[in-house]
Amino acid sequence: MRKRVTPLLSEAQIQTRVQELGVQLTKDYAGKDLVVVGLLNGVFPFMADLVRAIDLDFDVSFMQVASYGGGLESTGEVHILKDTDRSIRGRHALVVEDIVDTGLTLFKVSNLLKDREPLSLRICTLLDKPSRRKVQVPVDYIGFTIEDHFVVGYGLDLDGKLRNLPYVGVYHP
Ligand code: IMP
Ligand code: MG
Repeated sequence: MRKRVTPLLSEAQIQTRVQELGVQLTKDYAGKDLVVVGLLNGVFPFMADLVRAIDLDFDVSFMQVASYGGGLESTGEVHILKDTDRSIRGRHALVVEDIVDTGLTLFKVSNLLKDREPLSLRICTLLDKPSRRKVQVPVDYIGFTIEDHFVVGYGLDLDGKLRNLPYVGVYHP
């Protein structure tokens, strides 16, 4: 499987960018009551590195949603497999995602979280593929903007595999 992967973002490039995001988030959320909500499964390596780069006291929580369908593309039907264990009501919520592709997942998730009346709701993604967007979602923090490639590694999977690659690469079927 990994023979079909060509490197796109190295471990070092990712780590440098994650530290930069951490510095920015540390400034933006200083003095605020923050809950960082990671979207499982793909977010786990990014989330682990990002939260350690934010020099503040805050809550860490996870949510897992699934798009119906499967395959390489999401369908827009999102259901909750695991909900957050920390309340975001009256607090600042930062949703962390591995990649924004069509935007459908985050569109649904942010509407759902907005109903819980956080003081603010922002989105941070490691990767953004703007050329594939089907619905507009404001993405506040972006690690890297990439072309329309199917990417794997650093949390991103192909059918559940390749999440453990320490870098991000393009998968060639
Ligand atoms: P969206 O709803 O189309 O924005 O899709 C978001 C989800 O689709 C991400 O959380 C990923 O799980 C998955 N996804 C989208 N593009 C890729 C990719 O290039 N590689 C791996 N997973 C992807
Ligand atoms: Mg995923």
